[in-house]
Amino acid sequence: VAGCAANAEDGATSFEPQVLKKGQLRVCTDMPYEPFEYEDKGEPKGFDIDLVDKVGQRLSLEPRILDTDFDAIQSGEALNAGKCDIAISAMTITGERARVLDFSSPYFNASQALVVERGSSVESLADLAGQKVAVQGGTTGELYVTDNAPDSADIVPLPDSAAMDEALRKGTVDAAVYDNTVVGDVIANNSRLSVAAEFDTGEQYGMAVKKDGNVDLLRTVNDVLADLRANGGYDKIYEKWFGK
Ligand code: ARG
Repeated sequence: VAGCAANAEDGATSFEPQVLKKGQLRVCTDMPYEPFEYEDKGEPKGFDIDLVDKVGQRLSLEPRILDTDFDAIQSGEALNAGKCDIAISAMTITGERARVLDFSSPYFNASQALVVERGSSVESLADLAGQKVAVQGGTTGELYVTDNAPDSADIVPLPDSAAMDEALRKGTVDAAVYDNTVVGDVIANNSRLSVAAEFDTGEQYGMAVKKDGNVDLLRTVNDVLADLRANGGYDKIYEKWFGK
């Protein structure tokens, strides 16, 4: 099997994924993206964090969560430069990204959602004509709005979802586009907001490793995902973060 010889030097298992730092699984994620990844009293929490914990357990490696700019994750920069062994960041599997990253099998379905202040006249993408809409830079939401909103919409790319929340709260933008999977928490954190529209983009999240760089780790991730689906572990994590 490819990779065995190179990895077997400590006489451990013949199947030992390459990790950059002994004993650690270094994980790139972009926080906050609640409920997938966020900090609670200095501790990383969320659906993705629980999922990648299971990967760490399988490998007897301690996950070390490294908050990383989403654009550096999705562009392949962070993984290909060796900052992390793996990325989990509510990241959509796309053809473009698959040219620079290797993705796991999908673990979550998502689409896009338009969030506005309650009572706003913005009810659809068409209503964004002449309006300001916040997106997270480098995301599929940014691409979707760029491709589908009227030309006169003013698209404001922001570094993370915290900056988007703040722009909405302060009224410096008229709307924001997030994955539909996080808008429940966006609205729970700010009752003045509501979802104006959802767009069925048919997205799926995957974990990612460096391109052509870590086939063994990817295989372990896919095994862990398949086992969690089969043994009810996935449903437990899902219910913890999303209810039934
Ligand atoms: N799913 C979207 C994408 O892949 C947004 C992901 C944002 N993730 C995050 N942790 N901020 O582009």
